[in-house]
Amino acid sequence: MSRRDFKHAASSGLSTRSAHSRAQMTLDEALNTKVTRENYDDVLRTLSQASVDRHFDAFADIPWDAEDFQVRHDDPRWVLPAAVDPLGGHQWYISQPLDRQIEIGLWRQANILKVGLQFENVLIRAIMQYVFALPNGSIEYRYLMHEATEECHHTQMFQEVVNRIGAEVDGMPWVLRKLAPVLPMLVTKYPVVFFLGVLAGEEPIDHTQKSIFRAGAELPPVLARVMEIHIAEEARHIAFAHEAVRLRAPHLSRRARHITAALLPLLMRLLGDAILVPPKDFRERFDIPKEVIKELYWDAPESQARLRDLFADVRMLAEDTGLMTPLSRRLWRWCKIDGRPSRFRSEPSVVFRKAA
Ligand SMILES: [Fe+2]
Ligand SMILES: [Fe+2]
Repeated sequence: MSRRDFKHAASSGLSTRSAHSRAQMTLDEALNTKVTRENYDDVLRTLSQASVDRHFDAFADIPWDAEDFQVRHDDPRWVLPAAVDPLGGHQWYISQPLDRQIEIGLWRQANILKVGLQFENVLIRAIMQYVFALPNGSIEYRYLMHEATEECHHTQMFQEVVNRIGAEVDGMPWVLRKLAPVLPMLVTKYPVVFFLGVLAGEEPIDHTQKSIFRAGAELPPVLARVMEIHIAEEARHIAFAHEAVRLRAPHLSRRARHITAALLPLLMRLLGDAILVPPKDFRERFDIPKEVIKELYWDAPESQARLRDLFADVRMLAEDTGLMTPLSRRLWRWCKIDGRPSRFRSEPSVVFRKAA
């Protein structure tokens, strides 16, 4: 295949459809190799097989009717874990009566789940848009349909927990909810930006959920089960998004690379905030002083460290794929999400190592 053909295949996302009959590589072997189209297809075959071997159903795999899985408003396990949620460690929160702490915890978890399922909804729509144009035999088609199936189950299980909590949460900020129908349309034209957007939605939720488990926080069983399923399947989605960017980014034109690099930190910060910063409605409902929210998101030094940690894997990806330019480096700093890149994906963060 000529260099020009390869460039086209890589940037358009179309399968080259060359018949690779090599034995399937392990995922680690594939991920540690420089990404070529052939190698990329191997990763997608491995991820597709993993989806067949280990997947979950939102209703068959969660014992919703079990006694311990019922959401009770007097269950202290809904108190926000101090080691993970910045609000949970704040003096203002700790000084609230227990029933108030539980109520705030329930609402907060419900809103995070709601934002998560809204992101996933946009992702599912974008996947459908993207695969529509893929040719017969495309391994991307096969893998992405597995991913969409899994995301459908995630949106169902997240919504089920929100319903059981019974909190009237809106999820994403208003602007993003209005933009949601338009965003999936951009996927075919700007696949790299789209896959980076996917990471911006997936990384903060995945990172936070993993930190909760690593810190050993005691969670309500229904939340623990939902997170456990999500972490298991999200590992594949994040591996895919990283590979999709690694394949395409080096083939962007100089101009597109600079624009993408500059957009990256803005996208991460904007979408990260949409997931993690509690909305105004929450502050008003629970009468949380403005200064408390300001300090936690993200004025306090520990909060800033936590925010930076969320994106260490994305910084690594940016460094590896030419998406860290002098201008973008300044923007990472301006967005307060600069710092050391991970040495490998999912490297436990400094904040966690201190908290554990
Ligand atoms: Fe998901
Ligand atoms: Fe996902």
